[in-house]
Amino acid sequence: MNLNKVTVDDINVKGKRVLVRVDFNVPLKDGVITNDNRITAALPTIKKLIADGGKVILCSHLGKPKNGPEAKFSLAPVAVRLSELLGKEVIFADDDEVVGENAKKAVAEMKDGDVVLLQNTRFRKEETKNLEPFSSELASLADVFVMDAFGSAHRAHCSTVGVTDHIKDTAVGYLMQKEINYLGNAVETPVRPFVAILGGAKVADKLNVISNLLDKCDTLIIGGGMAYTFLKAQGKEVGLSLVDDTKIDYCKEMMA
Ligand code: 3PG
Repeated sequence: MNLNKVTVDDINVKGKRVLVRVDFNVPLKDGVITNDNRITAALPTIKKLIADGGKVILCSHLGKPKNGPEAKFSLAPVAVRLSELLGKEVIFADDDEVVGENAKKAVAEMKDGDVVLLQNTRFRKEETKNLEPFSSELASLADVFVMDAFGSAHRAHCSTVGVTDHIKDTAVGYLMQKEINYLGNAVETPVRPFVAILGGAKVADKLNVISNLLDKCDTLIIGGGMAYTFLKAQGKEVGLSLVDDTKIDYCKEMMA
C-alpha cells in the first residue's frame, strides 16, 4: 500500500523545533514502568529527528486524570526511561499547565538534537475536548509537528488534532507509517479468510471501525467489554456487565 502522507523522511528539521506527539501511555505500578514497549516503539522517529538536527519536543498523555494534574499521572518516570534508552539527557519540563515556564525555558535553551519531554497533556482540561487555548499554546513551542502516537490517533484532542490548526508543517513518524502500511495491507488486500478480532470497552468508540470491517472481513469477532452490548442485543442475560443501551439497536443491525 502506498502511504499517501508526508513522513519524517520528507521534511527538513535541521535547527527547527519539532513537536512530536507520541503515545507514552505506559503501565505504571507504584511509579515504576512495568512495560516500556510504547517508549521503544517511538525511538526510531525520535532518533531520526535527533540525527537530523531537530530540537525534539515530545508530548503525550498518560492515563486518564480527571481533574487536572495528579502526581501519579506524571510523565517523570518516562523521561528517566527514555533517557536510558536514548543514551542521552532528556529534559523533563515539569509544568502542571504543560506549556508553562519550565517548558518555555527548556525549549528556548534547546540546541540541535536536544530532547525535551512535556508533562502529561491531560493535565490540561482542554486536551480531551480539543479546546483552545491549549492547542495554540502547544503549537507556540514548535515549527513542525510530527504525529507518531498510533495508539492515540483515533482521539481528536488538542495534542493530536488541535495543534495542526496552528502548525502547517506536519508529518507522520515511523510508527504511524509502519502501522498504517500494515493495517492498510491487511484490510485492503487481505489473505482470506479474513477474520478481524476487536476488543475494547466502549461500542460507541468503534462504530465506524465495526461498520467498515464488516464490509471487508469474512468473520468479525467482538471481545472485551463491548461484547456485552452485543450479547444483550441478542437477548442474552448480561447481569451487571458494562452495556451501552443506546447502541443496542446498532448492534442488532450489525448482526442482522
Ligand atoms: C491507549 O492506551 O489505548 C492509548 O494510549 C489511548 O488511551 P486513551 O484510551 O486513554 O485515550
